[in-house]
Amino acid sequence: MKTIAFYHNKGGVGKTTASINLAAALRQMNYRVLLIDLDAQANATFATGLVKFQFDEEDDIKARNISHLLESSEFHFIPEIVRQSQYFNDPELDIIPAHVDLIEKQDKLTKYTATRIRLNNKLKLVDDRYDFVIIDAPPSRDVYAQVALITADYLIIPSDLKPFANQGLPTVQQFVKEEINETRQSMGKNNLKVLGILPSKVSTNSKYLDYVLPRQKNAVIEQYGIPILDSMVFERVALSNCLNKTLQVGDMLYPDPKSIFKFDSNSDSAKEFIKLANEVLKKVEVS
Ligand SMILES: Nc1ncnc2c1ncn2[C@@H]1O[C@H](COP(=O)(O)OP(=O)(O)O)[C@@H](O)[C@H]1O
Ligand SMILES: [Mg+2]
Repeated sequence: MKTIAFYHNKGGVGKTTASINLAAALRQMNYRVLLIDLDAQANATFATGLVKFQFDEEDDIKARNISHLLESSEFHFIPEIVRQSQYFNDPELDIIPAHVDLIEKQDKLTKYTATRIRLNNKLKLVDDRYDFVIIDAPPSRDVYAQVALITADYLIIPSDLKPFANQGLPTVQQFVKEEINETRQSMGKNNLKVLGILPSKVSTNSKYLDYVLPRQKNAVIEQYGIPILDSMVFERVALSNCLNKTLQVGDMLYPDPKSIFKFDSNSDSAKEFIKLANEVLKKVEVS
């Protein structure tokens, strides 16, 4: 079982889009995939079709979500919390959802050191059930980000390579070095392996690709010393449209989000995610 976290401390750079579609790509290659949403915004939970309800009283995520795995080492294990994505991908994949409640629970969870190692320990109990665990992390350095990066074997940093995203990179490096790796060492875990920056929301403008992108990539490698993946996720309408699909039932509109593969398996974006999946497979040495 290989665990990969998508993390950057900047929001809106494509972490959720990349994590759900990489998870979908690996799943449709028949790997057994578990996607974990650790962001209180619950965007990955929504994007995989788990939020079909329109009213609070129909909310079935509140009682069983990622926060329950973090609250206790004696109760709530992965098989009780996990669910399947809904009309999201073929085949569907397993999800541990997040809920806005994570904001309410944050102070309490932050107080206890053990919160940070429980997901790691509970995943060990199911390591024969999954080939890949993909974690969508929040854009912060809070307890949920700590859980994500303490649990993961590998880190992918999605970035649009623009100045504000670049300026966040030293913060990511410092967080990993000073908080994450120190904790991992005390648990007897190896340091987090940085697979690289995933250029994300990349403009398809040919002048940009010829002149600006190569300079941006060089600047990042030289200034921050972080590798850049060969794969890229280009900015394409299909990728945001597949998330925003809706279904009309009577006079109600329900969210009906799809992975890029279920939405349009021949799209350029689908091919980009297959390429990313193959690069990841090669870099984490799974065949
Ligand atoms: N490659 C892309 N092409 C088009 N839209 C994208 C792409 N990646 C992300 N988006 C859109 O940008 C917004 C932020 O992306 P998201 O994946 O939620 O970022 P993050 O998780 O880092 O906050 C969303 O509305 C998403 O649909
Ligand atoms: Mg997100």
